[in-house]
Amino acid sequence: MSAAPSPFSPLRIGPVTLRNRLIKSATNEGMTPGGVPSRMLVQLHERIAAGGAAMTTVAYCAVSADGRTFVDQAQLNPATVAPLRALTDAVHRHGAAACAQITHGGCFTFLPELSTRRPLSASGGFNKVGMMSGRFFKQAMTERDMDAYAQQFAQAARVAREAGFDAVEIHMGHGYLLSQFLSPLYNRRRDAYGGSPDERARLPRQVLRAVLDAVGRHMAVLCKIGVTEGVKGGGTADDAATIARLLEADGAHMLVLSGGMNVESVWQLFGGPMPAEARANVSNPIVRCAMSLQKLTEPTFDGFREMYFLEHSRKVREAVRMPLAYLGGVRSLANVELAMREGFDAVAMARALVFDPGFVGQLQLQAVGSAAQSATQSGCTSCNRCVVMMYTPGGTSCALQPPNDAALNRIAAA
Ligand SMILES: Cc1cc2nc3c(=O)[nH]c(=O)nc-3n(C[C@H](O)[C@H](O)[C@H](O)COP(=O)(O)O)c2cc1C
Ligand code: SF4
Repeated sequence: MSAAPSPFSPLRIGPVTLRNRLIKSATNEGMTPGGVPSRMLVQLHERIAAGGAAMTTVAYCAVSADGRTFVDQAQLNPATVAPLRALTDAVHRHGAAACAQITHGGCFTFLPELSTRRPLSASGGFNKVGMMSGRFFKQAMTERDMDAYAQQFAQAARVAREAGFDAVEIHMGHGYLLSQFLSPLYNRRRDAYGGSPDERARLPRQVLRAVLDAVGRHMAVLCKIGVTEGVKGGGTADDAATIARLLEADGAHMLVLSGGMNVESVWQLFGGPMPAEARANVSNPIVRCAMSLQKLTEPTFDGFREMYFLEHSRKVREAVRMPLAYLGGVRSLANVELAMREGFDAVAMARALVFDPGFVGQLQLQAVGSAAQSATQSGCTSCNRCVVMMYTPGGTSCALQPPNDAALNRIAAA
């Protein structure tokens, strides 16, 4: 094995060079009330950039009105260009790059109105998520729908470019539209878009190619995929390795490796359970109901395990040569260095940076011997209470830290 690169050395992904290899992973911020990015959103990403991260990811930007899961979700369209430009300018002032996660919810939607009678997905029939939203049935997409949706992703990427983003991350994980195609649990199609992992990957690949055609010469194009769905009959690490090979062949610039599904196996996504007291405190009845259902099927946990996706992610590492970002349970410099030694090119972190947006800077100081050892172990306890904070007036924040300024979250960024 060749010597592992320093996590603080630059990394080239497609046309973009990152100043180091530590990336803020998407964490649905809850900072786009009425779909408009707030000043709180700008402040959050500016703090992450100032805190040393190479790139910060703005979570969960919908590619169309129907693609939103909630009404208060940002959509990449002409109306959000100016506020998002304020965000990317702020991030760039600190030398970091900005990435927009682009997504479509498919049948994972709680919108009161859609342009179709039923939410579209890989397959039709009973809609599990509909137990919570009242949309009990979903509809299988036609090839025409798929062509149109691929173009929506491409158009959203163009808008992201106009807003000054350096990268887009196509969300292919966690149970949203593109993962509904990749997942054998959701995709029951008998045409060319269902069956083997290659066939299930057909629409996600079409989307990737459309996005690359639209912006790939100017922006880094990443895909976030699952390395395991964590449930019987769901996608496996072998499936992920096949899918990664296909995305590599199509020219994706980097893959971010996640896992779990937000309905069937949210514990797998986070490497641990949702806290019971957090469920009791949730005011949104839909989310409370969803969490209760998930609790019923949760395995028993014997404490949090750092680097919980390492074994699965190794299989993807062995399958491709392209840049890969390790993700999942990174809470220390030792974790980051292990990921580098394992051959990953970058490390994405979510909760450690929700706990402390300056964590990357702390790690860097420790790496050169100027910070206390304690500073390099995140104080994040992986309690997952921040996951329910996203529905509070100030938006997502760590439950162990003071809450965000709710007033700042009501003012549109400009
Ligand atoms: C509050 C919160 C919100 C999240 N929202 C998103 C999201 O919008 N999109 C996404 O791809 N992942 C989302 N995630 C998952 C993270 O990006 C990441 O995959 C997961 O937290 C594991 O990484 P970690 O162990 O570094 O926290 C969210 C995580 C948290 C804690
Ligand atoms: S709420 Fe819990 S999981 Fe989230 S950042 Fe804080 S300590 Fe970590």
